[in-house]
Amino acid sequence: MNKPESMKRGQFLRSLGLSTSTLMAFYCLGTTSCTSDEDDPNPAPGGNNNGGNNSAGLTGNATGSNIDFTLDLASDNYKKLKTPGEFVVVGDVLVAFTTASTYVALSKRCTHEGTAVQYRSQQNDVWCISHGSTFNLDGTVKQNPAVLPLKVYKPALSQNGATLRVTE
Ligand code: FES
Repeated sequence: MNKPESMKRGQFLRSLGLSTSTLMAFYCLGTTSCTSDEDDPNPAPGGNNNGGNNSAGLTGNATGSNIDFTLDLASDNYKKLKTPGEFVVVGDVLVAFTTASTYVALSKRCTHEGTAVQYRSQQNDVWCISHGSTFNLDGTVKQNPAVLPLKVYKPALSQNGATLRVTE
C-alpha cells in the first residue's frame, strides 16, 4: 500500500466525520487485501516455499516441480512428525509419520478434483474430504471417485533422526 496516499485518504475520510468501522470498509475497498505484510511479525524468509505457511523448520522447495525439501523435526512446525499417526502439509506435499512408524510423502492434491487430502491414522490411508476418495500409502486408489494415483515422493530420515528430507 502506498502510505502517503492512504494517509491522505484517511485524513479525508476522517474529515467527513465517519465512524471507525466505516473507515475500515473504505480502506478494505481500496486495497486487494485488508491484511498487510507489514503486520506480519514472522515474515517467511527467502528461499523457502511451503505454500504460504510459516516456514520455520523448512528449507528447500516444497511446491511445483523439483520437490526437494528438508524438515527440521525439532521445530515447532514439524515436531509432530515424530509422533506416529501425525501428518503435516508442506507446500504441495502431505508428509505423514504412519501408525507403523514409517514416513510417507504424497501429493496433497486429490486426483479427482484437486482438494487437499489428509492422512487418517485409524485407517492408515489418505482421504479426501470432498467426495470421499481414499488412497493407499503407495498412492494407489483405494476408493473412487478418484481413478488416478497420488504422486509419491521419497522421504528420508537423517541418520541422527533430526531432519526429514523429501525428494522426487
Ligand atoms: S476432489 Fe477428492 S474425491 Fe473429489
